Amino acid sequence: MKALITVLPGDGIGPEVCEAGIRVLEGIANKYDHHFEFSEQLIGGAAIDAVQDPFPTNTQASCAESDAILLGAVGGPKWSDPNASIRPEQGLLALRLALEVFANFRPVKIFPELASASPIKTTRLEGVDIMVVRELTGGIYFGDKTRSDDRASDLCIYHRYEIERIIRIAANLASKRRGRLCSIDKANVLETSRLWRDVTINTISEEFPTIELEHMLVDAAAMHLINRPAHFDVMVTENMFGDILTDEASMLAGSMGMLPSASLGDSTRGLYEPIHGSAPDIAGQGIANPCGMIASCALLLRHSLNLTEEAENIDNAIQDVIHSGGRTTDIAEPGQVALSTREMTDQIMDRLL
Ligand code: IPM
Ligand code: MN
Repeated sequence: MKALITVLPGDGIGPEVCEAGIRVLEGIANKYDHHFEFSEQLIGGAAIDAVQDPFPTNTQASCAESDAILLGAVGGPKWSDPNASIRPEQGLLALRLALEVFANFRPVKIFPELASASPIKTTRLEGVDIMVVRELTGGIYFGDKTRSDDRASDLCIYHRYEIERIIRIAANLASKRRGRLCSIDKANVLETSRLWRDVTINTISEEFPTIELEHMLVDAAAMHLINRPAHFDVMVTENMFGDILTDEASMLAGSMGMLPSASLGDSTRGLYEPIHGSAPDIAGQGIANPCGMIASCALLLRHSLNLTEEAENIDNAIQDVIHSGGRTTDIAEPGQVALSTREMTDQIMDRLL
């Protein structure tokens, strides 16, 4: 098959992990006789430096005609002046909005071999397999903002249709998994959360009567994620709660570097990015963990190109490498010689069938 993929390396370790992702996708293309065309474009801080715009017109045009978009990371100390009027993160938010990818999937799967890399007790990690569904184009991220010298505000707004569509997607997923959905809100304080809860209750009872629905306040959810993570199947929540809880959940897997994400809307065109950030502290050293990015490439093949076998091939190769002890710095055992980004990628590519 033929596919056009826009690649947005961005900042920090973004370019290093994107290179790994492209190499793996090219490996897959060779093995299965597909033709993937990559269009590399600017985003974030790199785009601000080049054209003073975190989401330039060329990037927008390329994404609009692509089958899928692969993104590294955006942001870094160079652009984090709180008084700056343009910021790298605006590029990513504008991209999500432009693509209308309102559903962000962040699977938290534990490799048993990495349990010791997690700060959480190994016994609590047994059986952990969570899918976090984060609403991605609404809420406080996108409401009107105001700022004067001594007053600032961010509006948090949700509409019924935005809640309905994300709940449907999460419930569908839950029905293909263990049938349990945990909706997370702050309904004891926030009006948006009370609407969220109402709409969730109605949507589930009318359309998904067999789903076991539970509501949890976000502060309690933060606690239960650590205390009894195996309790969760599908978690669904609004934009900012999802942002915070998925960083927390990533620690169950041992490293943020392991986890992928997919963002989708009503079409098959999706945005794929590892959940880690630009990691400026290790940028340019070639030691970043490429697994989150490579697993994101598997999600890209699965959800945007419908290439299930190819996606499984990648997932199995990652699992194989971890199983046989391949480790980048972030997940290495004490005293173990860690692999570079390139070496880890080579090992994964060597194991593709
Ligand atoms: C994420 C990131 C972004 C977010 C930032 C970079 C805008 O933290 O994808 O989780 O907050 O959504
Ligand atoms: Mn985040």
